[in-house]
Amino acid sequence: MAASSFFLNRHLKLSFCVFLLCLSGTAVAQLSSTYYLLSCPLALSVIEAEVVTAVSSEPRMGASLLRLHFHDCFVQGCDASVLLDDTANFTGEKTAFPNNNSLRGFDVIDSIKYKLEQLCPGVVSCADILAVAARDSVYALGGPHWEVRLGRKDSTNASFSDANKDLPAPFLNLSSLITAFANKGFSQQEMVALSGSHTIGMAACRMFRNRIYNDTNIESSFQASEQAVCPAVGGDGKLAFFDATNNGNSFDNLYYQNLVNQKGLLHSDQELFNGGATDSLVQDYARDSSLFFHDFADAMIKMSELTPLTAPNGQVRTDCRKIN
Ligand code: HEM
Ligand SMILES: *[C@@H]1O[C@H](CO)[C@@H](O)[C@H](O)[C@H]1NC(C)=O
Ligand SMILES: *[C@@H]1O[C@H](CO)[C@@H](O)[C@H](O)[C@H]1NC(C)=O
Ligand SMILES: *[C@@H]1O[C@H](CO)[C@@H](O)[C@H](O)[C@H]1NC(C)=O
Ligand SMILES: *[C@@H]1O[C@H](CO)[C@@H](O)[C@H](O)[C@H]1NC(C)=O
Ligand SMILES: *[C@@H]1O[C@H](CO)[C@@H](O)[C@H](O)[C@H]1NC(C)=O
Repeated sequence: MAASSFFLNRHLKLSFCVFLLCLSGTAVAQLSSTYYLLSCPLALSVIEAEVVTAVSSEPRMGASLLRLHFHDCFVQGCDASVLLDDTANFTGEKTAFPNNNSLRGFDVIDSIKYKLEQLCPGVVSCADILAVAARDSVYALGGPHWEVRLGRKDSTNASFSDANKDLPAPFLNLSSLITAFANKGFSQQEMVALSGSHTIGMAACRMFRNRIYNDTNIESSFQASEQAVCPAVGGDGKLAFFDATNNGNSFDNLYYQNLVNQKGLLHSDQELFNGGATDSLVQDYARDSSLFFHDFADAMIKMSELTPLTAPNGQVRTDCRKIN
């Protein structure tokens, strides 16, 4: 405080102003793994306990929480923009095509936020909750663990149009998938590793109907069992596990083994193993689960640090669904 009032002193020399401007323009806002160590020491254990409870009562919730974080970070960076509810004069991201009637887990985030507001009001951001909940979800389902750096702030806006533009659709071919991830700074290898998320969770019939009725690079018994779930007409909301081997209850490398066997659920999934540039990466991860875990954790850290909003920008929402 003393320092900032000193710098704001109107007798300040011009050279100081230039120095300050230069600093604010180049300084990279830092996230830190100890961000809440003094301000809310129990924050991480509260989040983990809530995630473990939610995932034990419904394993799919781990998948839903992981996806929430992805859909947050790919749209304006990791700023909890995805959590803002629509209002009479505001349209957020929840009804954008990839999210509408599809994203879930908002209630779990609300209940984590409620607990944290009781414990340390106004301290822990919704964007950080999403990042930690995604990590804890993967771990709770048997996947890798990694350190999450903290200090993201929450946005005061959201972007319906960016959600439609920046989130990849399940109908994309390999080159469009590569472009969608390259637009966010990810390599092909990172894209293939992140896609391993589809070892957990479910997809709705409307997302994979074309794949199971029109694609030819599909194993026939898998095709038949998916067609039994998802009719050619109607039943848009019928759900299938990405990995029917263990009903998506385990974070493992079976996703890649399924792709090698032409049992990818989405068209976009099977594009990763369809005679193109990413085939060998899929085979590597299918063979080597610890390589997958290692690369997945690295790519998740990178995703969770996509242009985060940091102080003095943004805020810590007291209710993740609306701005303060
Ligand atoms: C490669 C491009 C990707 C495409 C085209 C894609 C598309 C989809 C689609 C269509 C669904 C099903 C949604 C529904 O039917 O309601 C889904 C589910 C899911 N996605 Fe992706 N996704 C991609 C990458 C990712 C990434 C990078 C992550 C996480 C890092 C992720 C995590 C998930 C999870 C965990 C689910 C299951 C959610 C649940 O069961 O609630 N996806 N994805
Ligand atoms: C939108 O409506 C809310 C009340 O629902 C009000 O507080 C806010 O000022 C309005 N914002 C704009 C930009 O009109
Ligand atoms: C979202 O889904 C609802 C049906 O649940 C539909 O009425 C609405 O038009 C959809 N919104 C958009 C923007 O597509
Ligand atoms: C939201 O706010 C950020 C930071 O102020 C800004 O860069 C972005 O363009 C805004 N997005 C929309 C859709 O207004
Ligand atoms: C992939 O899809 C894009 C957009 O639909 C299209 O322009 C491109 O030709 C396709 N690429 C391949 C290799 O099929
Ligand atoms: C299969 O592809 C054809 C031609 O593009 C299309 O007319 C038809 O609706 C597709 N069928 C399904 C079930 O998606």
